Amino acid sequence: MEKKFKRTLVTTALPYANGPVHIGHLAGVYVPADIYTRFLRLRGEDVVMIGGSDEHGVPITIKAQNEGVTPQDIVDRYHAIIKDSMEELGVSFDIYSRTTSDIHAETASEFFRRLYDNGHFVEKTSMQLYDEKANQFLADRYVTGECPHCHYDRAYGDQCEKCGSSLNATDLINPKSAITGNTPVLKETKHWYLPLDRWETPLSEWILEGHKEWKTNVYGQCKSWIDLGLQPRAVSRDLDWGVPVPVEGAEGKVLYVWFDAPIGYISNTKELLPDSWETYWKDPETRIINFIGKDNIVFHCIIFPAMLMAYGDNYQLPDNVPANEFLNLEGDKISTSRNWAIWLHEYLRDFPGKQDVLRYVLTANAPETKDNDFTWRDFQSRNNSELVAILGNFVNRAMVLTHKYFDGKVPAATDMQPVDTQVFDELKTIAGALTANLETFHFREALKEAMNIARLGNKYLQETEPWKVAKTDMTRVATILNVALQICANIAVAFEPFLPFMSGKLAGMLGMKNLTWDMLGSDNLLSPGVQLAQPELLFEKIEDDAIQAQLDRLDRIREENKRKSWRPEPQMADVPFEDFTKVDIRVGTILECNKVPKADKLLQFLIDDGMEQRTIVSGIAKYYNPEDLVGKQICFVANFAPRKLKGVLSQGMILSAQNPDGSLVVIGPTGAVTPGAKVG
Ligand code: MF3
Ligand code: ZN
Repeated sequence: MEKKFKRTLVTTALPYANGPVHIGHLAGVYVPADIYTRFLRLRGEDVVMIGGSDEHGVPITIKAQNEGVTPQDIVDRYHAIIKDSMEELGVSFDIYSRTTSDIHAETASEFFRRLYDNGHFVEKTSMQLYDEKANQFLADRYVTGECPHCHYDRAYGDQCEKCGSSLNATDLINPKSAITGNTPVLKETKHWYLPLDRWETPLSEWILEGHKEWKTNVYGQCKSWIDLGLQPRAVSRDLDWGVPVPVEGAEGKVLYVWFDAPIGYISNTKELLPDSWETYWKDPETRIINFIGKDNIVFHCIIFPAMLMAYGDNYQLPDNVPANEFLNLEGDKISTSRNWAIWLHEYLRDFPGKQDVLRYVLTANAPETKDNDFTWRDFQSRNNSELVAILGNFVNRAMVLTHKYFDGKVPAATDMQPVDTQVFDELKTIAGALTANLETFHFREALKEAMNIARLGNKYLQETEPWKVAKTDMTRVATILNVALQICANIAVAFEPFLPFMSGKLAGMLGMKNLTWDMLGSDNLLSPGVQLAQPELLFEKIEDDAIQAQLDRLDRIREENKRKSWRPEPQMADVPFEDFTKVDIRVGTILECNKVPKADKLLQFLIDDGMEQRTIVSGIAKYYNPEDLVGKQICFVANFAPRKLKGVLSQGMILSAQNPDGSLVVIGPTGAVTPGAKVG
């Protein structure tokens, strides 16, 4: 039996304010949380949706340092972008605040202090890397060096991006401070640890025994953490950006960002509901739901719950944590640092008024059980062949026909037949499935069910053909269009959680006010005689050029990333000088240069090599106009055995160098040299 609750607290992972939000955040957290919250509101339930920016942590300080601004500048900039863009997308937070607020500093500080006073921490000293020039301890991210596993020379102190191993900064070979470039030294430092091992039994009982209904990805991750045995986790850092550790002798130390951020859920609830926030956190009849992405599972299911249990005072643990997997973009992992993302604020600029299209595609393609891929082609086809062709088309037909035959007044259904009542039977079945899926966080399935209402409508009009019946029986047409309009009204209700803009527009066209979820399935939402507004299109086709522009942008970013990540090849093994002297490299002057017929990569050169003229074929046609090379001097290998390329005998090889983008540049002397001179 479902437990009965009086209210629901929906929390959404606080995004780091070190960049804007992208479609991965939306698909994983904010769109599903918004769907769920809107659904509960339509049901008349007591629900609050909490959000805010996560404004502490090392990546923000690194970004600030790179740009030569303060961390506060960075978070002010991105907090504003995130807040505005989410609002524009219709994510209906009851509050969207931030972890640099005073109320948060107080709340987090008091939280730490209480755990400290009640003996819930252990103090430990350890050796950490310290930059003597910058006078500060270095967070793992602030150290670079050689990876001890694959010997990549630009590994970070927390992770090697080449081989993927997670590291400790002290593992790096030849570590360097990212701040000064200095070689850091080891220095002793003290930190507070939350001994998770003390909470193993209650955590295991709560999740592994008590929440077998959780999503398998979430349950599985929790189980493997608990099975491996929980370790104490440091909850403080040597850093000057964050909530200061409220303990004497802790100067220069702040709370670890993952300690303060989840407390942000509490601070933001306090800010929203100064008088009643405690009911939402401490009354067992409150249901708490945390919407997060899969990389946040351990923090929400193990660490934060352990903190709440340690705090006591009746704090409630989440009832469910429906974490999603990841959304990829055109086959590659989304990455803020590599700019591989579709940023929400840019989407809203490029596709004005198309909030619901993005909401639709991200829900239809949500990574609920496995990673999924967002592609612009899929976006276009879901818009054109689902939203336009199925949903928009049905509503438009019902509206236009009503205006044509009944001057836009809802006609009366006085001639109900089995085909009509059957539609409402099916509608009720769909409504039941839709509700059940929403209750259990199956939003993709839920959206499919909502679309089934539009499909049902199209099928109904196809079967009843009111445009034909209109020649003989207007009473029957009235009934058919009444039924079709009732389906439209059901669509306005069913889609409100998913596509709130469309729903609002449709409700406006139908003259509906105050939608509630219990309207769903009804055959009597619109009264006969009611005047409908002029039909407006709910969706419009997205053309190829809009999609191509987005694909071109991604291509440019791919190129840019290739350039940025380019490194020279490692130096080759030493060779004796005699080996070098065996290669006969000379300077020649280009006398003629032509394209090789039927070979788009090849150019054919006639070279003055000082003794005679020789022909050399080279694969650089993509990068040069043949005429531009005539008269130039180049270096070539003279003593390669001649070989035929596309029918032309090539007597040597022209030297060239390759850029990161693959382009080739011919190598020649920087001053005039007599042809035939040796290079060495
Ligand atoms: N900022 C974190 C992230 O983006 C999420 C923090 S969730 C909270 O991964 F619970 F700590 F707030
Ligand atoms: Zn490595």
